[in-house]
Amino acid sequence: MESVRPLLEVRNLHTHFFTKTGVVRAVDGVNFDVKPGETLGIVGESGSGKSITALSILGLVPSPPGKIVDGEILYKGEDLLQKSQKQMRGIRGKEIAMVFQDPMTSLNPVFSVEKQLVETIMTHEDLTKKQAKERAIELLNLVGIPDPRKRIRNYPHEFSGGMRQRVMIAMALSCNPSLLIADEPTTALDVTIQAQILELFKKMQQELDMAIIMITHDLGVVAEVCDRVMVMYAGKPAEFTETKKLFDNGKHPYTVGLMNSIPKISPNKEKLNPITGLPPNLSNLPAGCSFAPRCKHAMESCLSQDPTLIQVDENHLVRCLLYEEVKKAVTT
Ligand SMILES: Nc1ncnc2c1ncn2[C@@H]1O[C@H](COP(=O)(O)OP(=O)(O)OP(=O)(O)O)[C@@H](O)[C@H]1O
Ligand SMILES: [Mg+2]
Repeated sequence: MESVRPLLEVRNLHTHFFTKTGVVRAVDGVNFDVKPGETLGIVGESGSGKSITALSILGLVPSPPGKIVDGEILYKGEDLLQKSQKQMRGIRGKEIAMVFQDPMTSLNPVFSVEKQLVETIMTHEDLTKKQAKERAIELLNLVGIPDPRKRIRNYPHEFSGGMRQRVMIAMALSCNPSLLIADEPTTALDVTIQAQILELFKKMQQELDMAIIMITHDLGVVAEVCDRVMVMYAGKPAEFTETKKLFDNGKHPYTVGLMNSIPKISPNKEKLNPITGLPPNLSNLPAGCSFAPRCKHAMESCLSQDPTLIQVDENHLVRCLLYEEVKKAVTT
């Protein structure tokens, strides 16, 4: 299993925004890989750089003011950062597809679902309109839209939130991508619909042998669907390991803080235990570890020395000086 070549390898990725008020280091040294068929979670609080990491992979960082200033994004061994805009258009949708948080921003309200699905399919596949429509109906059926032959004629506003998200997933799946990036795909949905959509992701992954990057701020979603998980803090990975290891033995003080801030059901109504303080200003990061100002375990050295990602156990990387002395640095 370990020798399988990753489908995607992100190396030392730096994506910055050059604004009037300074350089925003949205993604500032991110390394991770995605194996074929696995679900990788990217978790972290608002503004930690999750979406910009995804947009960097797809070549969709708004530029200006954004720019990928360093790194490599190897997809099936080829660096996407060296591809032309035209080549990237071919890769998006066909090889790597994305599902966004709010389906209304990606579905066009003035066209029927049929028109939008058929057009997407025909852009990438050599099919007639009739064949593309049949494929669209098949996809709607696959994602659990009842009576798809009739429903395909509807407009986006005629679907409920959960059903619209299913339409979006059908659209993303329309060209059999090898990698699906889902950015907070269930945040806007109520919990029962969220559970159904997560079930759908699990089913898709098993049936279509597709890798998924699941971006979320919700550790419950990670526990439900992810094989491995990267915890991000202020544009950098704080911890990267298997989901089970993260839940059984999460090591970074930020990960531990995230775990402790999950509400628990208990008879004596324990108080919530949120992480105190605010995320740092990404255009004016503190010297040393960016989590140090909020960290209960911060030492003198944390305020001046920025930790590297170190291996603390098999398949378990942590960026924290508490572990640095005992383990060997594997990357900078
Ligand atoms: N166009 C832009 N100009 C300047 N800064 C930007 C721009 N887009 C994003 N950023 C900054 O990049 C940082 C990372 O943003 P990103 O959208 O990746 O966060 P996120 O982890 O996805 O957060 P959320 O959970 O809220 O979606 C944020 O501080 C954001 O303000
Ligand atoms: Mg986001």
